[in-house]
Amino acid sequence: MRDDLSRVEEELTHETGLASEPVAEIAGYLLGGGGKRLRPALLLLSAGYAGYHGAAAVRLGAVVELIHSATLIHDDVIDGADTRRGRPSANSRWGNHRSVLAGDWLYMQSFQMALEERNFRVLDILIDLTQSMVEGELLQLASLGRMDLGEQDVLDLAARKTACLFSGCARLGGVLGGLSDAEEQSLADYGRYAGLAFQLVDDLLDFTASPLQLGKPVLSDLKEGKVTLPLIFALESDGAGGRRMVRTVLEEKGFHSVRAEEISALVRDSGALERTRSLAHDYASRAKACLNGGATREFGRALFAVPDFILDREH
Ligand code: IPE
Ligand code: IPE
Ligand code: MG
Ligand code: MG
Repeated sequence: MRDDLSRVEEELTHETGLASEPVAEIAGYLLGGGGKRLRPALLLLSAGYAGYHGAAAVRLGAVVELIHSATLIHDDVIDGADTRRGRPSANSRWGNHRSVLAGDWLYMQSFQMALEERNFRVLDILIDLTQSMVEGELLQLASLGRMDLGEQDVLDLAARKTACLFSGCARLGGVLGGLSDAEEQSLADYGRYAGLAFQLVDDLLDFTASPLQLGKPVLSDLKEGKVTLPLIFALESDGAGGRRMVRTVLEEKGFHSVRAEEISALVRDSGALERTRSLAHDYASRAKACLNGGATREFGRALFAVPDFILDREH
């Protein structure tokens, strides 16, 4: 597994090196900035679990990381984010125009790599999940600054912008291993639940982490206009005072009349963090349940541990 992940790194370096400047520089910069490589890992483990051990898993591992990278570059442009992976974001270094084009190039490069598999199922899955992520970002834009979002709204959003890529990674592993439709669907469901848990933990970390731990500033979701689940839960249990504070931050697009600590306290004291945490745990359990007791299978144990790793990110 570790060897395969280093092969994914080699592929990534090779593929992004093919671009002309400044795309190669931007892509190399982002990939060199770290990143957990969670999506390639998920794909490799799923492929192993499905009984596949060939070179296509490494190639597709690089493909999903390139798609993820392109999404992050575009996302930071959209969010006007200054920091990514503990360093200045691509948009803050190269500007929006170059960053958008670098993201476009990376999407196309990833599809060109995927095309080498000569497998329509693979392309179908990749196109589907990429479109879904774009829809997620569009939905996110439409939801910015809205305080009337409910639990289901933000879960739908997370399903599109985050969980569909996790799900696609797990499904691709199943496709490579030639699993039955039902088994492939179970793997895809596993990935989707793991992805939902991942996004909820990411939302929690925005309230609970240190900037060093996160590689991006904390309490930035609300500043960007995003009302995430911890805040929704907090507002549900708080009276008008909390609403007024949140509305002010949204209107001022930052912590000016309201201090960041007041929002942290609102979320902390309402029990909203525990409630979000408990939902993330639920999704992690559901992910594991999709493995149908396959924990004893080769790679099953590792796949079983992924949801716990996702929850552990908080510590
Ligand atoms: C960030 O994903 C985008 C979200 C879905 C929240 P990761 O936290 O996996 O980003 P890297 O690749 O490790 O930087
Ligand atoms: C996650 O969106 C990135 C995508 C999956 C498109 P966010 O905007 O919520 O994530 P961060 O906080 O920038 O990583
Ligand atoms: Mg963002
Ligand atoms: Mg975003």
